[in-house]
Amino acid sequence: LEELDMRRDLAGRRVMVTAGPTVEPIDPVRYLTNRSSGKTGYALARAAAARGADVTLVSGPVALPEPEGVRTVHVETAREMLSAAQEAFATADVAVFSAAVADMRPREAAARKLKKGEADVLLGTIELVENPDILATLGAAKRPGQVVVGFAAETDDVVANAQRKLSSKHADLIVGNEVGGGRAFGTDDNEVWFVTAEETYGLPLMPKDRLADRILDVAASFLP
Ligand code: CTP
Ligand code: CA
Repeated sequence: LEELDMRRDLAGRRVMVTAGPTVEPIDPVRYLTNRSSGKTGYALARAAAARGADVTLVSGPVALPEPEGVRTVHVETAREMLSAAQEAFATADVAVFSAAVADMRPREAAARKLKKGEADVLLGTIELVENPDILATLGAAKRPGQVVVGFAAETDDVVANAQRKLSSKHADLIVGNEVGGGRAFGTDDNEVWFVTAEETYGLPLMPKDRLADRILDVAASFLP
């Protein structure tokens, strides 16, 4: 019974989750993107809904079904994700930024399909510009009592980078994980570090749906 009560601990709360990659067009048929299955974000949205929250999932293109009982907003580019997230963030009690946002986009998407031999693409460079940092932008605009959770996907120095991102992005919790070499991407399990202002600790390897609940436990503990 206690466990059943626990699972409604987010009733009356609004939760926003960003998930999946963003895609940044080069031309009508090609794009730049990041590796991301969306599994962690979708697991978070499902877990939050199961705990009674009103959930908005802002998702880049993924091959996953929309979670039941969740408002899913589909976006493609980082700029589209920022505006959808901004809207949901305004009324969110908890915001979790699990999307693998493309840090850069082509300065201009060509209006027509580029042909193989076009020198500026194949022989030269595609000019890139920086995308907005969705977490840092919204984290900086956080209201008192609003809880912000971010991720840090790192190939090296997971803990140090996660600690740095906690403050630079105004997050209450950073979930740090090592990526590359077949870890994390697309798998169902994940081994991570939790970094808050008070403490840093590692979690045992666990399925992404259990990890989602652990993340929500920490987020819920910060709610006023
Ligand atoms: N993030 C975001 N918008 C971006 C880039 C990142 O919202 N344009 C969020 C991610 O969803 C994640 C956190 O910021 O929660 C950290 O993302 P990560 O890629 O690890 O860090 P970056 O700040 O982009 O730095 P770098 O990729 O250089 O390590
Ligand atoms: Ca990045």
